[in-house]
Amino acid sequence: MDRGRSTDLRKHQTNSPDWSALIPVLPAEGPRRAALRAELCRLIETRVLLPGQKLPPSRELAQRLALARGAVVAAYEQLAADGYVETRIGAGTYVAARVPEGAVPRGAEGAAAPGPPPPAPGKLGSGTADETTLRALRGLFREALTRPPAGFLHYGDPLGEVALRREIAAYLRATRGIRAEVDQVMITAGTQSALSIIARALLPPESRIWVEDPCYPQAVALFRSLGLGVVPVPVDRDGLDPATGIAAAPRAEAVYLTPSHQFPLGMTLSMPRRLALLDWARGCGAWIIEDDYDSEFRFTGPPLAALHGIDRAGRVIYLGTFSKALAPGLRLGYAVLPPEVVDAVRRMRDLTDRYPNPLIEAVLARFLAEGHYAAHLRRARKRCRMARDALVEGLAAAPLGVTVPEQGLHLVALAPAGAQDGDLQRRAQARGLATRRLSEMFIAAPARQGLVIGFSGFAPAEIGAAARRAAAMIAASEARG
Ligand SMILES: Cc1ncc(COP(=O)(O)O)c(C=O)c1O
Repeated sequence: MDRGRSTDLRKHQTNSPDWSALIPVLPAEGPRRAALRAELCRLIETRVLLPGQKLPPSRELAQRLALARGAVVAAYEQLAADGYVETRIGAGTYVAARVPEGAVPRGAEGAAAPGPPPPAPGKLGSGTADETTLRALRGLFREALTRPPAGFLHYGDPLGEVALRREIAAYLRATRGIRAEVDQVMITAGTQSALSIIARALLPPESRIWVEDPCYPQAVALFRSLGLGVVPVPVDRDGLDPATGIAAAPRAEAVYLTPSHQFPLGMTLSMPRRLALLDWARGCGAWIIEDDYDSEFRFTGPPLAALHGIDRAGRVIYLGTFSKALAPGLRLGYAVLPPEVVDAVRRMRDLTDRYPNPLIEAVLARFLAEGHYAAHLRRARKRCRMARDALVEGLAAAPLGVTVPEQGLHLVALAPAGAQDGDLQRRAQARGLATRRLSEMFIAAPARQGLVIGFSGFAPAEIGAAARRAAAMIAASEARG
């Protein structure tokens, strides 16, 4: 092997940056010190330079880049002042252990990669990750690939990587009043995977399961595909009424529901009904499957406690997902299992897809541990609230009964008397607003006509404009009769 080749190999093995690659980034003249600082920030934020890594001595870097040494020293000082690096006297300059969030200069790497066309405004379930979030994830993925977790190379725990389970347990304790041991937390590929594993582990075919009517169609279709007897229980302004469920199927084996924010109608399960549901479940040994899919997005009032938090009998199985809170493509969610079912569920998980992808789990664990998730949620909540307001305002001209949601990432616009939601949907779509038909989410209760419209992942101006166009079109056709 010749010398040049072995130097090259070493360079890749140690992953140290090629400092001469900075040369084309720096302008030939003008503010080179600022450009150097900006480029070093970018390398640190995108984790090409890792926490704890040593930067070259200022004299050496200045020589390589044909810069005045003072310019490099000044750039390092500025980076230290901004918290990107730490200077250890007599030892050199090192990338800080915790890098602050900041504006990153857009280089080729920071630019958005070409991807699939964005979804039409109004489409349900569009992720909430902004450029700052993507940048943090990009850096963490790069690092996870450089130093993969053990489970990436060997078989792992069917419940998932313990680091992420620990973070989720802490997060749920702090935000949802849920006290769960790490051993009760199972990482899943989202809610759908959790429902499938849990239903197959705990509910033999022909078990009966109450569901809200209307309900999340993916869940109903899944339960039916597993041979479960779906028992629709109508919802009113207080949510699902256990008395109606008891009248229909008193000894059902389970109930699946969305107590914090009923999907799709948006009401909250009242406290008397929560207590009645827990009583019923305790009495007949039924499982309560609580789908808490969007509670991270509460816009007004205090956060609502989860049903799990008031369950003293261990009947509630709590489900959460990163699909709404971050991005559905991550395929990450979690279940909090009562201790007595952990073994059965773990065995079913092992038979299903064995265990989750540890690389993605490692990334998410650090995303939570380093505070990126909390910061992401703060930004996303603000953006989603603005998008919600723009959507509501945009729809104002249409004769629709819009309920402004205090939580979540979608709203329901009820159709005027006599109108069919299929017609409304076609009109909205013709003007670029995506919707789901409310009527198709009803099971046995008389179907109400309306549109279910998502507002996550869209700029307020974009969704507002699409809503205005759709509203004008709907108003005009309703006026014509
Ligand atoms: C009621 C409900 N639960 C859960 C989810 C999330 O599903 P998953 O985590 O499988 O992406 C959704 C997404 O649309 C939903 O509407």
